[in-house]
Amino acid sequence: MPKSLKSDRFNVLPKHVAFIMDGNGRWATERGLSRATGHSAGVKTLKNTVKNVFSLGIPYMTVYAFSTENWKRSPEEIDSLMKLFRLSFARYFDKLIKDGIKVNVLGDVSAFPSDLRLLIKRTAETQMEERKGTLNVAMNYGSRDEIIRAVNTAVKRGEKVDEKSFSELLFTAGMPDPDLVIRTSGEMRLSNFLLYQIAYSELYFCKKYWPDFNKSDLYSALHSFEERNRRYGKE
Ligand code: FPP
Repeated sequence: MPKSLKSDRFNVLPKHVAFIMDGNGRWATERGLSRATGHSAGVKTLKNTVKNVFSLGIPYMTVYAFSTENWKRSPEEIDSLMKLFRLSFARYFDKLIKDGIKVNVLGDVSAFPSDLRLLIKRTAETQMEERKGTLNVAMNYGSRDEIIRAVNTAVKRGEKVDEKSFSELLFTAGMPDPDLVIRTSGEMRLSNFLLYQIAYSELYFCKKYWPDFNKSDLYSALHSFEERNRRYGKE
């Protein structure tokens, strides 16, 4: 097998893999393209990665598409992202659901334009016959915001929580925590992403920008995961 092709045999695979899809802007700027073009290229990578992850039989995948801090970007860039979200919910996610991939949104959708909210609602209500996997799209998501909401819900209900009942108040209720978090673009931080859920996750940082991330990079991350010795605090 050529060295560039990573083996597609894995002794152990994560049940849940999460992605911080970083570097669309730099990818575009380095090519003299608009940031919007970088995000469009990012959607292509997202589609390929979804295909590659679920065809390995990994049941859960989460992607960070828009953070609570991303509203600080220019109106043009925000608009280009909203357009991509609209297109993706209107066409791509519907098709995924028909293929047996449940699509969930993690985050406060009330801040999005009403037509996009409607598309998100329609996606959430689409019935599916057989579930092969779950794709979570984190949009207007911030981990601190999620944790504070959960605390306030518990306080309002007058409930004392434990680790298990607290995780049921998060957007990821009922799902396994991510086993592996992959961040592209060489940045080595978590940027307010799933902070409660990734307490014991393995982290993998890839230097490539998200639009360049390919199947071979995914396999490198999964092979790295395979070699990790997960001790969860044990000796
Ligand atoms: C980070 O790169 C990426 C984002 C803030 C947006 C991610 C969105 C997509 C991949 C496309 C839309 C997704 C869906 C679900 C349809 P950056 O812009 O911060 O890049 P930079 O750090 O190089 O500037």
